[in-house]
Amino acid sequence: MRQDYSRTAEGMAMVRALEQHQSPRIIDDPFAATFLLNPYYRWLARSYCSSRSVLRFLRYWAPGGQEFLAIRPRLVDDLVTVEATQGLKQVVILGAGFDTHAWRCRVALTQTIVFEIDHPATQQTKRERSRQLGLPDNLRFVAVDFEQDDFAERLLAAGFDPELPTYFVWVGVSYYLTAQAVADTLQRLSTLSRAGTKLVWDYMLAEVVNGTSSNREALDKGRRAAQLGEPWLWGLAPADVSSYLAGFGFKLIHDYEPAELRERYAPARPLPMSYVRIAMCERAGS
Ligand SMILES: C[S@@+](CC[C@H](N)C(=O)[O-])C[C@H]1O[C@@H](n2cnc3c(N)ncnc32)[C@H](O)[C@@H]1O
Repeated sequence: MRQDYSRTAEGMAMVRALEQHQSPRIIDDPFAATFLLNPYYRWLARSYCSSRSVLRFLRYWAPGGQEFLAIRPRLVDDLVTVEATQGLKQVVILGAGFDTHAWRCRVALTQTIVFEIDHPATQQTKRERSRQLGLPDNLRFVAVDFEQDDFAERLLAAGFDPELPTYFVWVGVSYYLTAQAVADTLQRLSTLSRAGTKLVWDYMLAEVVNGTSSNREALDKGRRAAQLGEPWLWGLAPADVSSYLAGFGFKLIHDYEPAELRERYAPARPLPMSYVRIAMCERAGS
């Protein structure tokens, strides 16, 4: 079992911290830098000049990566905030890492409980760093290893109520899990949902995971993730998403195209990377 915090979660915090030096910003996250454990990252993200150098390098090393990874949490914030105006009572973030959704959307979510589920090693680090920010009253931590534990059981024990209006957020995680763990997670989400419960999640293209993609940049990033100890294990073809979700009782509402995301959030920036896709769906039923 992993004993240390997730380096990819720290990478996501770095993306949001760097975005603070962009103008205009895709996402405004003044809390992200608190979760940079690596002192070198902290130093790089601190000043305008150093962060601009990193962003220039990233644009060359991972074209569209900064854009996609900044748009993803922004889209989640927007989707959840709209639901919050319509009586949303619970947000459950699976594999929350160092995401600061609960802080960014604090004002919109005063009537909504936010459950953050993550691996115990990463969550412990998050709890420690969160002291600097102060914990939002509506935030609940639930420590789970998706490969070993029944997260539904832990979530219910933490006070989750399947009968209340809920948004499940599951981004930046599915591709690190085995096919079995992904299916088990969706099955559990299905049993925890009532008709109309929303789920936003993302998936890696199957061709990248199985190595048949012609996108060399994507294959290279996959090797890099494996070197960091978090290999990409699972993916899906866009054509199969609707039927795959239907097998768990979810109806696909929208599978976001990179061009659409750019148009909405960053028209003057490069096209967001296209080998991870964000999909929004809802629990079917009467
Ligand atoms: C790339 S990070 C994404 C974090 C966050 N969702 C974001 O977008 O900033 C992946 C997250 O998945 C979590 N994760 C990966 N495998 C896991 C497992 N087996 N059990 C629980 N969490 C896991 C990691 O701890 C990490 O926080």
